[in-house]
Amino acid sequence: MPTLATTVDGLKLPNPFIIASGPPGTNLNVITRAFREGWGAVIAKTVSLDASKVVNVSPRYAKLHAASGEVIGWENIELISDRPFAHWLDEFRRCKDEFPDRVLIASVMEEYRHDAWVEIIQRCEEAGVDGFELNFSCPHGLPERKMGSAMGEDPEILEEVCGWVKTATRKPVWAKMTPNITHIEEPGRAALRGGATGLSAINTIRSVMGVNLDTLRPEPTVEGYSTAGGYSSKAIRPIALRMTMELATMLRAEFPGRTLSGLGGIESGTDAAQFILLGADTVQVCTGVMKFGYGCVKPMCDELFGFMAKHRFETLADFRGKSLPYFTTHADLVKRQADRKAAQKAAEAKPVVASDTEWTGDEFVKQSDALSKG
Ligand SMILES: Cc1cc2nc3c(=O)[nH]c(=O)nc-3n(C[C@H](O)[C@H](O)[C@H](O)COP(=O)(O)O)c2cc1C
Repeated sequence: MPTLATTVDGLKLPNPFIIASGPPGTNLNVITRAFREGWGAVIAKTVSLDASKVVNVSPRYAKLHAASGEVIGWENIELISDRPFAHWLDEFRRCKDEFPDRVLIASVMEEYRHDAWVEIIQRCEEAGVDGFELNFSCPHGLPERKMGSAMGEDPEILEEVCGWVKTATRKPVWAKMTPNITHIEEPGRAALRGGATGLSAINTIRSVMGVNLDTLRPEPTVEGYSTAGGYSSKAIRPIALRMTMELATMLRAEFPGRTLSGLGGIESGTDAAQFILLGADTVQVCTGVMKFGYGCVKPMCDELFGFMAKHRFETLADFRGKSLPYFTTHADLVKRQADRKAAQKAAEAKPVVASDTEWTGDEFVKQSDALSKG
């Protein structure tokens, strides 16, 4: 009987679809909704010890539409949670009381201070969460305070902070990587050297959604001004897939057994299948839930099942990373193509019939013709 159930870093998930940190996991009401709709796990909105420093603005989203009207790109300048940490701890506890068998992961971000990281991890763990995602990747607002992607872009700091976190907990710890760097493997390696159990990739891509041609102001416009934001949704999927491929290749070669959670533009079961084929253990969805609602997990599961049935895969492990061996260098593509063309030419040049046993009814006219050319 085929199954979507999977166990990752000891966490048992009914399916690989995880709510990514963001608005879809921003308080207990919506987390409860996600579990009721059947999501495999929830990563809550990123928390910090002192929410009073987090001040959001409005508008904070801007969308890119295709000619059809479909939203294909989404920019946000939203910060991490502006809700008090004490409220979060209370909600983590209540959530685990109501859903003891479901996986709740806390996403955390702190300043570059050992004691702050240890405190936030320990207090979340006491509240009952099943694991952690370390947000080293929010590209706006927080980097001004040396948080988020300011840390994620610096492999040395990343390794050190992951080390602090690992001394504070034995639960799984996923380091969430920023795509706003040239080679994502470098910070990935650093996080794993520091002790992260796994990686999540990707967070949003730094972006400017556009400029209003009447007012000449960049968007989203807040009091006439803007700031570069984070780009998500369908349009970033090819970049997320590339980074999934790069990280999975590195993990397999250098850190076998460590895990990868893939995200960026996933909206369907077939999108998810592609991330898993490139080595992801789980997949996360943020903007997709903001576009389609929590119920989208059902068609996603159905589609993933459909893909598995077509290929007779029984479990996710049957196809995880299966497409990775088909990546090679460009020089190798050139060689493969030249080899194939040479083989084809040699086949065309050779006499079609070398002995009378090779005559076939289907090729009879062609074979006769070839013999007439000698
Ligand atoms: C409005 C919004 C808020 C987000 N807030 C967070 C956050 O608090 N912590 C975090 O790690 N990622 C946050 N993200 C990033 C998402 O978790 C995800 O990495 C990114 O959007 C790409 O996935 P997607 O295309 O499925 O949205 C946010 C994304 C959006 C669109």
